[in-house]
Amino acid sequence: MDAEITLTLDGERRTVTVDTRTTLLDAMRERLGVISPKKGCDHGQCGACTVLLDGRRHLTCLALAVSYDGAEVVTASGLAGDDLHPVQQAFLDHDGYQCGYCTPGQVCSAVGVLDEVRQGHPSHVTEDLDTDPELTDDEVRERMSGNLCRCGAYAGILAAVHQAAQETAGHSA
Ligand code: FES
Ligand code: FES
Repeated sequence: MDAEITLTLDGERRTVTVDTRTTLLDAMRERLGVISPKKGCDHGQCGACTVLLDGRRHLTCLALAVSYDGAEVVTASGLAGDDLHPVQQAFLDHDGYQCGYCTPGQVCSAVGVLDEVRQGHPSHVTEDLDTDPELTDDEVRERMSGNLCRCGAYAGILAAVHQAAQETAGHSA
């Protein structure tokens, strides 16, 4: 069975007819030509397909496209304006990528993480639930743990998230 859905995708309204079994990742990559989100595992285990969906980070390989009719999707390529987004720039500054396959998902996740911390959301390693979480190395590692990197660029990614946190302090994504 087919269904028509409309998304705001990186600021542009896009309408497409999809089989109702189509994931949001496949709808973007195969039907709409938006290839910034990557397909790594297709099973919710690697984070390569992460986008910002209605402002929160989300795995698109586990999302059925028809469930997100009307949603706003921002991919890593949609984050930049005239200049790179501070998270993108920080990844460049700190060599936060090697092959780059995981990078769009890492960047979207990092933007989501910084927003979650600003909103005071605790993580599994937050010890004091009565105060706003502090972005320690452990907090960054835990919050980014859903995004795997086969190249092992984690040290650069950690440094990049800290830099972006400082540069975007007081701002939301
Ligand atoms: S492709 Fe979605 S989590 Fe791996
Ligand atoms: S930079 Fe190659 S998978 Fe992360």
